[in-house]
Amino acid sequence: MCGIIGYVGHQDAFPILEQGLRRLEYRGYDSFGFATQHEGTLHITKSAGKISGATLTPLPGSIGIAHTRWATHGGVTDENAHPHVDCSGSIAVVHNGIIENFQALRAELEKKGHSFSSGTDTEIIAHLIEEQKTDFVEAVRKAACRLAGRFAIVAEHAGDKLLVGVRRGSPLIVGTGKDELFVASDIPAFLTHTKTVMYIDDGEFVVLSTEPKFFSIETGEPVTKRRIEVSWDAADAEKGDYPHFMIKEIMEQKETIQRAIHQDDNEIQRIADAIKNAYGTFFIGCGTAAKVCQTAEYLFSRIAQRHVNFVPASEFASHEHFLKENTLVIAVSQSGETADVLEAVETAKKKGAKVIAIVNVTGSSLTRIADTSFLINAGPEQAVASTKATTAQLALVMMLAYATAGKLDEGRRLLVDTAGMVNDMLNPRYMKLVEGIAKQMTNKRNAYIIGRGLNFPMALEAAIKIMEVSYVHAQGFAAGELKHGPIALIQQGEPVIAIIPQDETHDAMISNVMEVKARGGFVIGVSPKNNPEFDAWIRVPDARNASPIVSIIPIQILAYYLGVARGCDVDKPRNLAKSVTVK
Ligand code: M6R
Repeated sequence: MCGIIGYVGHQDAFPILEQGLRRLEYRGYDSFGFATQHEGTLHITKSAGKISGATLTPLPGSIGIAHTRWATHGGVTDENAHPHVDCSGSIAVVHNGIIENFQALRAELEKKGHSFSSGTDTEIIAHLIEEQKTDFVEAVRKAACRLAGRFAIVAEHAGDKLLVGVRRGSPLIVGTGKDELFVASDIPAFLTHTKTVMYIDDGEFVVLSTEPKFFSIETGEPVTKRRIEVSWDAADAEKGDYPHFMIKEIMEQKETIQRAIHQDDNEIQRIADAIKNAYGTFFIGCGTAAKVCQTAEYLFSRIAQRHVNFVPASEFASHEHFLKENTLVIAVSQSGETADVLEAVETAKKKGAKVIAIVNVTGSSLTRIADTSFLINAGPEQAVASTKATTAQLALVMMLAYATAGKLDEGRRLLVDTAGMVNDMLNPRYMKLVEGIAKQMTNKRNAYIIGRGLNFPMALEAAIKIMEVSYVHAQGFAAGELKHGPIALIQQGEPVIAIIPQDETHDAMISNVMEVKARGGFVIGVSPKNNPEFDAWIRVPDARNASPIVSIIPIQILAYYLGVARGCDVDKPRNLAKSVTVK
């Protein structure tokens, strides 16, 4: 959560920072701010609200930092917006993460005479740097040594023509251009300027002046780094002709499923063999990625007759007693930065378990701590609601399940076919049909989604999608559980989306649909075949074991149009942020 960008170079910093911040807005959008330096003075502007839509007056200078916030400590106010400064107003700091010992540090600094003007944990960093009373770079290092928690910080000092970036647990990446340097929470922030990046690892800091110089926070010793070229295109991080990133990313599923299965077969088989020989395999993730992990339980059972465990990453600590050296933990994360996932992985590694990452963002924290990483190659996902990353993750998990069954080729053929079906499905007529159904739901307060087997986790995922982008209360259920309680919720006209593939769950699902109909529910069937019990039908292809992929896509589309029809900011839903880098 929170987006950071910093610039040192020969151009005016402000337009570069502004553009970068707009690209990072998906990380948090409660407030924003800038601090540039010019002729030895800091120039600061900050405000509550979203940067998109704000009219800004440029600040002077060719060095600066900027921030877009997702509030943790301190409400959404102008005062709490970053950057924060020290007592003298000559040190400015932007920060992502949480300083866990901020109360103790604030009390200590107040005793020493520092006065605070915000309710944030961030402001103590600026005062702590000031308190070190030594040269700026060393002061930042010493201050960082005193901070507890996971964070990324960028600091500047009026008169010092440099920036200092510190990373411990939250992402921070350096971009190197010709006579100019960038530092940001995520690569798209500077992608129009450079594709050459250098990764700061946890426990390190970087000094950006003419050349980036990396050091250990603890010892101050220099660290050697490589320059890496990223393959993402600046256009990938733009909306293009689409009104929202969410719909652009939904449409990109025409290609992303195909890209996800473009993997090294030997590596897939090696991990599949490791699953066979492991003392238990855990699939862990959060939110939508957790629903992919839950689907893995069904896929492995069905395709490879093998038991794997799904645990939400935030609950993983309770399972640590089951970890042995030959336990396998497969962590699924779009961003590779989700704090709960990283913490679970750290727990697993401490116990000697091997960690495999299924990730979208190259070079992310997860890829750096996992023993093996598979990139899903979906390209930047900017809408808060995950869509193309979800289906790419599902495809990769499916490949692993088929490989575990010794049927990798069969799995790949199925997924190639599925990618073709998705391509056919995402046509203008189909979009119109789903939009029409979404419009019928515009004034509904609730929506329920039911599924069985492979598509039970997709019913849960469908609920996340609808809730987060349209704010309609949505709940997913295992269809068989309906009569054990939730059916009490069904009233006349209440929308119930039933995911009904052409598999062994079909007949039982139709029985559940009839139970819903008998109570007046409005049934939207997501199915390859129409049924007289459906009030509305969203046709999906018969993708057999890949049915979760083709079933979730029309519900993503439905959620999108429902959000748009209800006037919601679908790309940036209230209270949410794309990467949840705090616990
Ligand atoms: O980056 P990650 O995949 O680790 O993110 C996990 C969740 O925060 C994410 O899936 C979240 O649930 C999305 N808003 C769902 O659309």
